[in-house]
Amino acid sequence: MTDRITKAVIPAAGLGTRFLPATKAMPKEMLPVVDKPAIQYVVEEAVRAGLTDVLMITGRNKNALENHFDRVAELEATLEAKGDTAKLEKVNESTDMADMHYVRQGDPRGLGHAVLRAQMHVGDEPFAVLLGDDIIDERDVLLTRMLDEERKRDASIVALLEVDPDSIHLYGAAAVEPTDDPDVVRVTGLVEKPAKEVAPSNYAVIGRYVLKPEVFEVLRHTEPGKGGEIQLTDALMEMAGDIEGTGGVFGVVFRGRRYDTGDKLDYIKAVIQLASERDDLGPELRPWLIAFAAGLSRD
Ligand code: G1P
Repeated sequence: MTDRITKAVIPAAGLGTRFLPATKAMPKEMLPVVDKPAIQYVVEEAVRAGLTDVLMITGRNKNALENHFDRVAELEATLEAKGDTAKLEKVNESTDMADMHYVRQGDPRGLGHAVLRAQMHVGDEPFAVLLGDDIIDERDVLLTRMLDEERKRDASIVALLEVDPDSIHLYGAAAVEPTDDPDVVRVTGLVEKPAKEVAPSNYAVIGRYVLKPEVFEVLRHTEPGKGGEIQLTDALMEMAGDIEGTGGVFGVVFRGRRYDTGDKLDYIKAVIQLASERDDLGPELRPWLIAFAAGLSRD
């Protein structure tokens, strides 16, 4: 049994080239999903799961991230003077949410390298990693379940989603064995972004991990893999095969709603899906979408 996990690590050093020119001077994590930056959804999810110590792995050009989670005295004073408490609350939401820490990645040498940058802050405790491109619907439970499984099994936990085999090349893919729990599988192998023909399954690793601190030692000697980058998937592959040394790896199978903001089309879908479910926007947006899709709209 381990103590309760409190630390979340959020890698956010990517260059966001898929969204140029929007990301020329702004981090991709700050792209609004409806009216909140994508990264805020992810920090909110961590906090909901009880992880109030958040370490962001950033890089050059990421100052807006730090500013977003900090006070903006001038704006606060203006809204206060106007008595606009609703907007003031929105401004303060991201300020008071968590205990935020930042470390820079320097050379972006892959996700594994980014996670290794967290070692000093995390120390010898298990911790969660949340990737900013994935938003998990707040009505669906994933991270809490993963934290529970880490405690129960004393192993590292990945989130798995069954995807269309045509999409498996976009993800880490897992070879799995069933356990006595239908939502949990034992991970026996992992391959980073395999071709469909050689993928061990259509179980894709999505951007949530609960990792034992042994991962740091493994990452230290993990050689560059796919794309010449140090891959977290490769380190987890080693851990999956070393149950005695590292506790092994299990997967929590997620069957809820996940929104991918990592590429343009998925990002647009995520904005539409989330907006259409909002009480303030949905009632007007939904009928408009239906009319638009039917080719009736001339807007
Ligand atoms: C990363 C991981 C990959 C995982 C994916 C989930 O890839 O390397 O194993 O499946 O996140 O979103 P990326 O999408 O950052 O290229």
